[in-house]
Amino acid sequence: MSTSIIKKGGIALIHEKLKAFPKEFLWGAASSAYQVEGAWNEDGKGLSIWDKFVRIPGKTFKGTTGDVAVDHYHRYKEDIALMAEMGLKAYRFSVAWTRIFPNGHGEVNQKGLDFYNRLIDELLKHNIEPILTIYHWDLPQALQDEYGGWESRKIVEDFKNYCVTLFKEFGDRVKYWVTLNEQNIFTRFGYQTAMHPPGLKDNRLFYQVNHHANLANAIAIQEFRKYVPDGKIGPSFAYSPAYAATSKPEDVLAAENAEEFASHWWLDVYAWGTYPKVAWEYLERQGMAPKVLESDVTLLKEGKPDFLGINYYQTTTFEKNPLDGVTMEGRFNNTGKRGTMEDTGIPGLFKTVANEYLEKTNWDWNIDPTGLRIALRRIADRYHLPVLITENGLGEYDKVENGTINDDYRIEYIRTHIKAVQEAITDGVEVLGYCVWSFTDLLSWLNGFQKRYGLVYVNQHEEGEHDLRRIKKKSFYWYKRVIESNGEDL
Ligand code: BG6
Repeated sequence: MSTSIIKKGGIALIHEKLKAFPKEFLWGAASSAYQVEGAWNEDGKGLSIWDKFVRIPGKTFKGTTGDVAVDHYHRYKEDIALMAEMGLKAYRFSVAWTRIFPNGHGEVNQKGLDFYNRLIDELLKHNIEPILTIYHWDLPQALQDEYGGWESRKIVEDFKNYCVTLFKEFGDRVKYWVTLNEQNIFTRFGYQTAMHPPGLKDNRLFYQVNHHANLANAIAIQEFRKYVPDGKIGPSFAYSPAYAATSKPEDVLAAENAEEFASHWWLDVYAWGTYPKVAWEYLERQGMAPKVLESDVTLLKEGKPDFLGINYYQTTTFEKNPLDGVTMEGRFNNTGKRGTMEDTGIPGLFKTVANEYLEKTNWDWNIDPTGLRIALRRIADRYHLPVLITENGLGEYDKVENGTINDDYRIEYIRTHIKAVQEAITDGVEVLGYCVWSFTDLLSWLNGFQKRYGLVYVNQHEEGEHDLRRIKKKSFYWYKRVIESNGEDL
């Protein structure tokens, strides 16, 4: 008899016996092109906004780039052999737009298609289900230069064309597709905090850019139905459920505001094709609501996903933020020095605050498995859509000792989160699969290589040249047993 007990924080619903994971559950792991591939200027690939951004001094930890990353472009066979050894059922990867269309549109680069065909075929040879992410942040620089990338409506047509090319080329073999990875993050960091390319701080533009991305997401789904009628498609959203700091009504209201502005603003559009009322009214009053055409309304309603992809790392706790309170300007911990993250907020709506019940990683991310259960239940209750957990994992320092990596902390993190998924399934949530972030170690956009997520260690660092050899961590063997037992042996 398995009993679910959460040590801290209490729990409302305790199951005496948990449901088994479904037979077809997709036990997976994930990556993204820029973070693993390397080969940044090979075989006709064009420049992405990240290829340019990382070259601006001070933007990334110790000036790291994805020029080589973990060289997956050349070592994909070795990596897939490791996935097969682990018994992985699904591998989520992304396609670099600039390998397919070096300038974002125009002529197709056959060598780019060839690479992903080889990758997909190699996965299928080992019975690993490919989950293809169409866009994981590496926009062609040419489109940024030509019309401001996501800032212009023109992106919708170019994105559609890129998607259709992928659907036609890979749709016969790839059945699971993710449209946009973490639209909420790439737009927030690109247009509110300037931490990601194009490095702007412009709130009005932030909302307009998001509207264009919503249209791109919807048109991709609409086209998908024509080309891959037997496939499943959805966006991946970075969902951080909001908690209220106290039961003071103003803190509860702050948490409601955070849910509305930081989550429903995207999820409602994906699932229902409509913007949430309270946020819309607020933005209209501020003169920041995006320009929406009548034809947009129809398109958004037609682009319904088959599932919602959820990237879950942590919950966030909120309290009331006065009108002269903190803004989004707070420092982010990109160094791994615990305690350096600052609170952020929107004056008059909410501000973040530490949650005394939760432990944190060295990068100040809260560790909260129950939060994943809460996330899954909130999504299922509000949207009535299945969920695919497209990312979850722990970024930490790893040490190689006598040729091995004893990452018990990572095992504990993943174990407790998988348990929370099982509890959510028992609660009644339909969960299609779970992808650990990440399969191999990879480049953590702003944090270099020292913040490691992989089940497989890669000998790559911020400085110097390294042999990039792969070493299976303790978590590799542990996850292998989890998969073999279909989640029974945690
Ligand atoms: C998600 C992204 O935001 O979180 C990944 O989809 C990213 O690309 C992951 O690497 C972890 O974030 P970070 O900043 O720790 O690398």
